[in-house]
Amino acid sequence: MAVSTAPTPTTSSLSFSHLSFFQHKKTSFLCTKNSTVKRKCEHRGVHVKCMVLEKSSAGEAKKTKRQSVYKLQTLTSWLLKQEQDGIIDAELTIVLSSISMACKQIASLVQRAGISKLTGVHGAFNAHGEDQKKLDVVSNEVFSNCLRASGRTGIIASEEEDVPVAVEESYYGNYIVVFDPLDGSSNIDAAVSTGSIFGIYTPNDDCLLDLEDSTTLDTVEQRCIVNVCQPGNNLLAAGYCMYSSSVIFVLTLGNGVFSFTLDPMFGEFILTQENIQIPKAGKIYAFNEGNYQLWDDRLKKYIDHLKDPGPSGKPYSARYIGSLVGDFHRTLLYGGIYGYPRNKKSRNGKLRLLYECAPMSFIVEQAGGKGSDGQQRILDMQPVEIHQRVPLYIGSIEEVEKLEKYLS
Ligand code: AHG
Ligand code: MN
Ligand code: MN
Repeated sequence: MAVSTAPTPTTSSLSFSHLSFFQHKKTSFLCTKNSTVKRKCEHRGVHVKCMVLEKSSAGEAKKTKRQSVYKLQTLTSWLLKQEQDGIIDAELTIVLSSISMACKQIASLVQRAGISKLTGVHGAFNAHGEDQKKLDVVSNEVFSNCLRASGRTGIIASEEEDVPVAVEESYYGNYIVVFDPLDGSSNIDAAVSTGSIFGIYTPNDDCLLDLEDSTTLDTVEQRCIVNVCQPGNNLLAAGYCMYSSSVIFVLTLGNGVFSFTLDPMFGEFILTQENIQIPKAGKIYAFNEGNYQLWDDRLKKYIDHLKDPGPSGKPYSARYIGSLVGDFHRTLLYGGIYGYPRNKKSRNGKLRLLYECAPMSFIVEQAGGKGSDGQQRILDMQPVEIHQRVPLYIGSIEEVEKLEKYLS
């Protein structure tokens, strides 16, 4: 209940546009602000106690609970609530907390990259023959360390590791976590948006290294690969963290999409958007058009149509950062389509099914959008290898379906 000391207004200055006070001793009465809201003002000397009263449907005034402006929901308290509601178990809560911790650490490393001499190349190539950046390597280490320390992860598969790794430190849970520790790393040195992407699959004990057992490391590795190669349909949770002008952590547990913004004052992720829904359509397209000449003719026609829809339509706007996380996040909020098609040089496009396309498709579907390879739903695709690439078209449902028609 708010207690305020207020000057005693004269009756002539009485205004109902703000809270009104009457000069009356030890009496309480209702001051009408408008027809639906009434305020009960109780005068005690110079102190006036006021509470907001609302009319119930029956016409009776009822007390409403005052929401504190200081009440913030952190990712931690939100996760605990999901656990209390039975949406996730305690083990998954721990895994997700450790991922958020990794993201905070990477956010800080990305932000200070220039100062800490973390820009530039590492001097080695990853499993895909790509030049690893220093921050790719460091972010991978940070992610892996946080997941190991959680003690709840059985297998981790990363863009930066040749094969999935069995985590010996796991003593309960054994979740399978796939991740791209730093996405859009070519943008780092220019301080442009980057991100981390992750997906979590059901535990599977088959892949664990049993020291009593006579299994060789090779067999364990084989079991890990089989366990990690699951279709996106099996995902329990997926999310990403975007390192941009704000650090944004977006998460789905299969019951809607939620977004948390890192508050630099507390170092905590704060819930800022609930149940995000992607617009059904949107006039923004994000494709690397530098590859236009390498594309299939049907795709060229589609892009040509977006740019020149004829006299009746307005051309789409082009936006392309070159960081999937950044391009996806904008698409999620504003609508439109993001695409990384196959081309004459890369028959399966560039993006990886397991830790880029599947988690993003799970998120977009949870927001009412669509993720497709042009013909089929990404979440239905069964990976045949860890670093498998697939074409990706993702975004507003109507935009992705329009593209599918062009490609059919
Ligand atoms: P990563 O940095 O993890 O290798 O991913 C880069 C990806 C993705 O983020 C982005 O959408 C795409 O590469 C950009 O590729 P182009 O430079 O070929 O457009
Ligand atoms: Mn990536
Ligand atoms: Mn990456």
